[in-house]
Amino acid sequence: MSGSATHIVDELAVLSAEPLCAQAPLTAFDTWVTPTSRFFIRNHFAIPDLDVAVWRVNIEGQVERPLSLGYEDLKRLPSKELVCLLECAGNSRTTAIPPVEGLLWEHGGVGTARWKGVPLHLVLEQASPKASAREVLFEGVDRGTEPGQSEPSSYSMSVSLEKALHPDTLLALEMNGEPLPRVHGYPVRVIIPGWYGMASVKWLSRIQVIDHAFQGHFRVHSYVFIREGDEFHTAKEPVTSMLVKSLITWPSRGQVVPVGEHVVRGVAWSGRAPVAKVEVSTCEVSSELEGTTWHSATLLEPTSTYAWQRWESLCQAARPGYYVVRARATDAQGNTQPAQAEWNFRGVGINSIHAVPLEVRPTQ
Ligand code: MTE
Repeated sequence: MSGSATHIVDELAVLSAEPLCAQAPLTAFDTWVTPTSRFFIRNHFAIPDLDVAVWRVNIEGQVERPLSLGYEDLKRLPSKELVCLLECAGNSRTTAIPPVEGLLWEHGGVGTARWKGVPLHLVLEQASPKASAREVLFEGVDRGTEPGQSEPSSYSMSVSLEKALHPDTLLALEMNGEPLPRVHGYPVRVIIPGWYGMASVKWLSRIQVIDHAFQGHFRVHSYVFIREGDEFHTAKEPVTSMLVKSLITWPSRGQVVPVGEHVVRGVAWSGRAPVAKVEVSTCEVSSELEGTTWHSATLLEPTSTYAWQRWESLCQAARPGYYVVRARATDAQGNTQPAQAEWNFRGVGINSIHAVPLEVRPTQ
């Protein structure tokens, strides 16, 4: 890994040096907005170094008026700021049973940042999509050949025309009040609120409006739910909006605490609806959830549609012993976390209930 890459990931744990992928510790999730230095990194290829003076994005395909915009053109358009969470679809993959192939994320492939940029619909409306338009395909500058690819391609991902035209879908120029850092997509990236991170394409170079479902490598091979027994040639369910999930940020795994009252803390989110409740349970070590008593946690301010919801819950550690703290989130559509997420070959969308073992010791 180059010296500059080491510097970038000082506060993260590197999962892969080339391409650079790094996750945050759970303690990084104790703030509403994650500092940029503690925001996870997920790259499929080498990080490009772009000169903003010559950078342009082309908007083409099924449009009446193809466009080409530079960085200064985008800066002149109206902008919007959103506090929005990104979660990598492979986050928590290490908890899949049986183990799956892929980058071994524990729970650190998620973060919430303040993104500022131009609502994509303003640009698309200028280009005027044709009646045949079905999806919008974003292409990054980064290129390469992943295992399973026969020839090189650029990192590309599509969303439905409807999602692309949503007023909160952004062409982001800033992260946490600063120009995007190079590793997070400088000069311009897409932000698709509510969807897993794979659609928020970095180092954007092309926006293509297409009249069919995109069939590129990352869409049909990497970011799909492939379930046990699925046939090879049948179309697989694409990964889109984030499943409901919560993580415990305190206590940490294996922590030793004294008998008494403790405030359990964490974060929760769903890409489908606001978080309606988070419940917490503390019981003696057991793999069974049967008979567990769940207590409602307090949902904390501030809140925002696309950010995570911080929560806390007062728990009594009455007797010394070995315990497991669990947290379960439910969203306003009634989606709730399963004890064990449905297994799939790529290990995507893993939202099993987070369980943290801890030891309660007698007070001296
Ligand atoms: N965009 C490009 N051009 N290349 C990539 O490898 N990775 C995607 C997405 N956008 C990727 C990309 C994935 S899988 C995720 S989870 C997010 O970027 C991660 O964004 P971050 O590195 O800023 O956290």
